[in-house]
Amino acid sequence: REAAAVARTPEASLERLQLQAAACRGCPLWRPATRTVFGEGPADARIAVVGEQPGDAEDLAGRPFVGPAGRLLDRALAEAGLDRAALYLTNAVKHFKFTPRGKARIHAKPAYREVAACRPWLDAELELLRPALVVCLGATAARTLLGRPVTVARQRGRIVEVGERACLVTFHPAHVLRSGADGDYRDFVADLARAARRAH
Ligand code: URA
Repeated sequence: REAAAVARTPEASLERLQLQAAACRGCPLWRPATRTVFGEGPADARIAVVGEQPGDAEDLAGRPFVGPAGRLLDRALAEAGLDRAALYLTNAVKHFKFTPRGKARIHAKPAYREVAACRPWLDAELELLRPALVVCLGATAARTLLGRPVTVARQRGRIVEVGERACLVTFHPAHVLRSGADGDYRDFVADLARAARRAH
């Protein structure tokens, strides 16, 4: 009976979900990718952060947000007063999509059908977590969670209720990295600070 009780905890359910996702063949992206990169973080996280898809570094490490965009995200989270270890970090698409160029693997934007194929995993994660706030990093995550196309620059920083769920749209850290604009970084940190205030 004890084992059954343990298996029903949100932690155990997340782990089971991760094992199932590791074998997902719901779209063709699994084949060239190294592995499924599932979400990570505590099952009682108040904030879930949703990106687009793992990059090269994440595909190799098997963890979300550990490459250059992840390092920028870490810095911005810390400045916003958020502890990464207390957040649940995941992606709309859980395999790295890329175009080979010599030895390099160049990030390719996931097609909407790939986002849709991966959607059940994200839904299941959020269903288990029931976070106080979902932070959408960039247009892919925002479109998936808001259910409509989103222009991030125009709609960032506001909290929108989507059914029972509160969502906040902000820049994708890779955008902030590429743009190099101080203003974008400051806006990004301000949005994350807003998320911190809302969820705590
Ligand atoms: N970009 C994302 O959207 N997710 C990651 O995990 C890494 C980079």
